[in-house]
Amino acid sequence: MNLPFHDPHAQVEGGPADILVPRPASASATTTAIVMELEHANYLGFIHGGEIMRLVDNGAAVAAHRHCKRRVVTAAMDDMSFLVPVHLGELLTVKAMVNDAHRTSMEVGVRVEVENIQTGEVRHVSTAYLVFVALDEEGHPAQVPPVRADTPEEVRRQRQAQVRREQRLARKRAVEDVARE
Ligand SMILES: CC(C)(COP(=O)(O)OP(=O)(O)OC[C@H]1O[C@@H](n2cnc3c(N)ncnc32)[C@H](O)[C@@H]1OP(=O)(O)O)[C@@H](O)C(=O)NCCC(=O)NCCS
Repeated sequence: MNLPFHDPHAQVEGGPADILVPRPASASATTTAIVMELEHANYLGFIHGGEIMRLVDNGAAVAAHRHCKRRVVTAAMDDMSFLVPVHLGELLTVKAMVNDAHRTSMEVGVRVEVENIQTGEVRHVSTAYLVFVALDEEGHPAQVPPVRADTPEEVRRQRQAQVRREQRLARKRAVEDVARE
């Protein structure tokens, strides 16, 4: 299915009647906290980056699902940096919220922090942005509600998400153009 990029909230045929009603960004907020155990670590006691990426994908998927009330798939994950190492026994927290939505896709912002439970020290591990696409019962992209940004922080995140979306789409188009040459 090819949907136009320029008309993000136009009605998709057969979509739910209340699909155009914006939902607050905060309603999608999701926090996951998990103590890092052996299964998450390498033999040096550091947590695998891939394990953190899996937890980011999971937390972000729940936020996207909360927003659109449909099943979702991960379409893209932006570059992700790991700022500090995470160790066995530390408490990893993944906070996710939908920043913005278009016709069928949503950008979710994720902040990962880790707490040394013994000292109470909290470190910023990573920030990530993911795109999810909602699917209908046949597995085709389905329309999602717009995001209502209620606070100055949410408005800033929504505007930044729009900039990132433009960049993603431009990069995708540029790569496809080269493939067609
Ligand atoms: C994501 C997927 C459904 C998109 O299908 P598609 O045929 O490209 O659909 P469309 O061209 O209609 O695009 C649908 C939306 O996805 C967005 N999209 C598609 N590819 C994208 C990408 N690489 N990056 C960001 N957004 C993307 C489009 O911008 C569009 O958003 P909009 O409707 O809000 O404007 C399809 O690529 C897919 O099934 N991918 C595999 C998903 C998966 O298995 N993930 C891992 C396991 S969950």
